[in-house]
Amino acid sequence: MTYKALFVQPGGGYHNLTRGTCEARAPEAGEICVRLRASSLNYHDFAVVSGMWGPHEPRIPMADGAGEVIAVGAGVSEFAVGDHVVSTFFPDWLDGEPRVEGFASVPGDGIDGYAREAVTARATAFTHAPAGFNHAEAATLTTAGLTAWRALMVDGALKPGASVLVQGSGGVSLFALQFAKMAGARVIATSSSEEKLQRLRALGADELINYRETPAWGERVRELTDGRGVDHVIEVGGPSTLEQSMIAARIGGHIALIGILTGVSGNLSVVASLIRQLRLQGVLVGSRTQQQEMIRAIEANGMRPVIDRHFALDEMVEAFRYQETNRHFGKICLDI
Ligand SMILES: NC(=O)c1ccc[n+]([C@@H]2O[C@H](COP(=O)([O-])OP(=O)(O)OC[C@H]3O[C@@H](n4cnc5c(N)ncnc54)[C@H](OP(=O)(O)O)[C@@H]3O)[C@@H](O)[C@H]2O)c1
Repeated sequence: MTYKALFVQPGGGYHNLTRGTCEARAPEAGEICVRLRASSLNYHDFAVVSGMWGPHEPRIPMADGAGEVIAVGAGVSEFAVGDHVVSTFFPDWLDGEPRVEGFASVPGDGIDGYAREAVTARATAFTHAPAGFNHAEAATLTTAGLTAWRALMVDGALKPGASVLVQGSGGVSLFALQFAKMAGARVIATSSSEEKLQRLRALGADELINYRETPAWGERVRELTDGRGVDHVIEVGGPSTLEQSMIAARIGGHIALIGILTGVSGNLSVVASLIRQLRLQGVLVGSRTQQQEMIRAIEANGMRPVIDRHFALDEMVEAFRYQETNRHFGKICLDI
């Protein structure tokens, strides 16, 4: 059947986003057909759509996709028609150690993504959505949710009582705050806005720092931890925040290198990471198994993602323009 889809034309740019159609054929052995109902915005999708990392050929954008199964191919026992499912960031990384480099196999970048009404794909490109989640909530998990989960629970092996620093109130950081509280950790949260800091408090943040008013927030984190520093840092800023993160981390602490909100390169002394024996771990989302483990934990704890606002699929440009303002708190979703 033919369904509606959006395409980013080569090079990207908002002016280069066109409407079109795509086919979702009957699934073959090992495949499912999913009627997509929601997606959610990530900085990576913004980079593809805005042209920062525009595609070389027409590409259906968006890495996150959630919806319901409308047909099942031969040999698929994991899913049935009507099941609610959510896409995986790396359809080829099912389990085990990281086995992917870059975005060549990622929906919405190297291959077509989920800004469309339906898709036929290998069943392993999806997992079950958490029971009771609506489609928009489920769509937030593919990228932002799993990144925060993997950073804290897999790479960080987070323990109750450990301390976690989260930067700002974007999608990854809010998930990290929620997972950290779920696991019994102490959370120090930063934001540029007093109003957002109060919302972070309401989500469970134990200590708050306004990073605009306190540019040396790394020292403030040390004060708040009796000079010790935090066990884990969710580093989403990149070059302009990493130095403060290295000050904020304890000796032997773990910094999850996740984001590039302040750019991809900069002047940085690496001395602090050597003398304080920090563990800097690059993160690129996670595996399908990790997504299933995250979803089990979400169901067991009744956790719900924070959604700031919904846009219609056709309003994708407005949605990205809104993301660019940084006024959002949590996830921005597209209803399909
Ligand atoms: N490596 C991976 O696997 C992976 C996966 C997902 C995302 N990412 C990356 O992680 C970053 C965050 O993604 P996201 O989806 O969470 O973005 P987002 O939702 O757009 O986050 C935006 C928020 O980040 C905060 N922020 C901006 N500049 C900051 C700074 N200098 N210091 C502290 N906070 C700052 C602001 O919070 P306040 O308004 O509260 O100040 C802003 O509202 C992006 O660079 C993205 O590409 C990486």
